[in-house]
Amino acid sequence: MEQMGYFKNRRTVRKYTSQAVSDELLAELIEAASQAPTTGNMQLYSVVVTRSEEGKAALAPSHFNQPTVKGCSVVLTFCADFNRFVKWCEASNAQPGYDNFQSFMTAVLDVSLFAQQFCTIAEMHGLGCCYLGTTTYNAPQIAEALGLPERVVPVTTLTVGYPDGESPLSDRIPVEGIIHFEKYADYTAESVKSLYAEKEAREDSRRFVAENGKESLAQVFTDVRYTRQANEHFSKVYRDFIESKGFAFPEK
Ligand SMILES: Cc1cc2nc3c(=O)[nH]c(=O)nc-3n(C[C@H](O)[C@H](O)[C@H](O)COP(=O)(O)O)c2cc1C
Repeated sequence: MEQMGYFKNRRTVRKYTSQAVSDELLAELIEAASQAPTTGNMQLYSVVVTRSEEGKAALAPSHFNQPTVKGCSVVLTFCADFNRFVKWCEASNAQPGYDNFQSFMTAVLDVSLFAQQFCTIAEMHGLGCCYLGTTTYNAPQIAEALGLPERVVPVTTLTVGYPDGESPLSDRIPVEGIIHFEKYADYTAESVKSLYAEKEAREDSRRFVAENGKESLAQVFTDVRYTRQANEHFSKVYRDFIESKGFAFPEK
């Protein structure tokens, strides 16, 4: 397959040249990405384009000032959006029942597929992209900065621009580690360690462990990068925010 080379070599790009991504190209890429699969063809998403310096400066703290925000050509905030669809229902004498967790998850799936479709198409056009997971951490501040109404929740963000230099290709665990035939074959401590052995042996992983004063790479994830404390805190913030935007969680 001709495109296999792209897929096998794709990588996140965090540093960009000063060349702007034109409005025309951006619109073309977004239109192509909107052909991504979407639940019931409802298109339960919106994307907010931030190009201005002020706009980026307003978003940067919500992304913990990751340099890629101010250093890119455009910041794209991808939102789960039931606002447009509900308004269409209401204007059409149809009673929407979309103020719940199931509907929120539907919109999250739709927007995730749309964002990744955009990313693939943009990269195939020579652009570079970087996802920002900080979107779900600081969704309330992002929503405030972007003026998001009820039923619109930021899910992920991409910084986009022309790559400045070549980013390294990152590793993946061996493919047999992610495939299960017919039934899920659970991992033993031994099999899981062997899947991660190559990753643990990498020079950059060893450096990461040493720099953080940890015993293992896994500890860098649990104790430094994605801690229980942060996950529990941001879970509460995000849940409260999702509810405040009109998606109720079911009673237990
Ligand atoms: C949902 C999501 C959130 C991410 N958040 C960040 C982020 O906040 N900052 C960052 O520099 N990279 C972020 N990334 C990029 C990942 O670090 C990157 O995809 C991963 O290390 C694999 O590298 P590769 O994309 O170059 O193969 C994110 C990726 C995803 C899918």
